[in-house]
Amino acid sequence: MIQRTFSIVKPDAVRKNLTGAILTEIDKAGFGIVAIKKESITKRQAEGFYAVHRGKPFFDGLTDFMSSGPLVLMVLEKENAIADLRKLMGATNPANAEEGTLRKKFAASIQENAIHGSDGEDTAAFEIGYWFAGYELI
Ligand code: RTP
Ligand code: MG
Repeated sequence: MIQRTFSIVKPDAVRKNLTGAILTEIDKAGFGIVAIKKESITKRQAEGFYAVHRGKPFFDGLTDFMSSGPLVLMVLEKENAIADLRKLMGATNPANAEEGTLRKKFAASIQENAIHGSDGEDTAAFEIGYWFAGYELI
């Protein structure tokens, strides 16, 4: 079954001009791009997006980082998109990320880790709806 997931090229990767390299890997892995846009988000928007992490010690630093510069928001599509993107991304901490994964190649630290991907069907639906209107997803 074709499935959609939500992804972000995070501000660290955009700053380092890695957007093209990351999109190439996503393309090579067989994902279609349903929608894509570059935006600068506010701290408040970042707090809403990462609401599940509110109260954790890294929440303030994470939301500062996500609102520190432009990022690229994407809806991706393929068979098994959610799990396959997580696999392509690699572990949250690049020090633990497997060879060949995007975080192994492009991430600098556990916070500045280059890419986001939804971790389940419910979160994918919430995250797509948080950043994209229905008419952008045709
Ligand atoms: P993401 O949501 O961004 O795809 O990352 P993830 O599922 O692999 O990791 P998650 O646990 O959801 O954490 C969200 C983001 O918060 C930052 N983080 N920093 N300093 C820390 O200990 C720490 N832990 C997490 C990372 O940017 C992580 O991607
Ligand atoms: Mg997560």
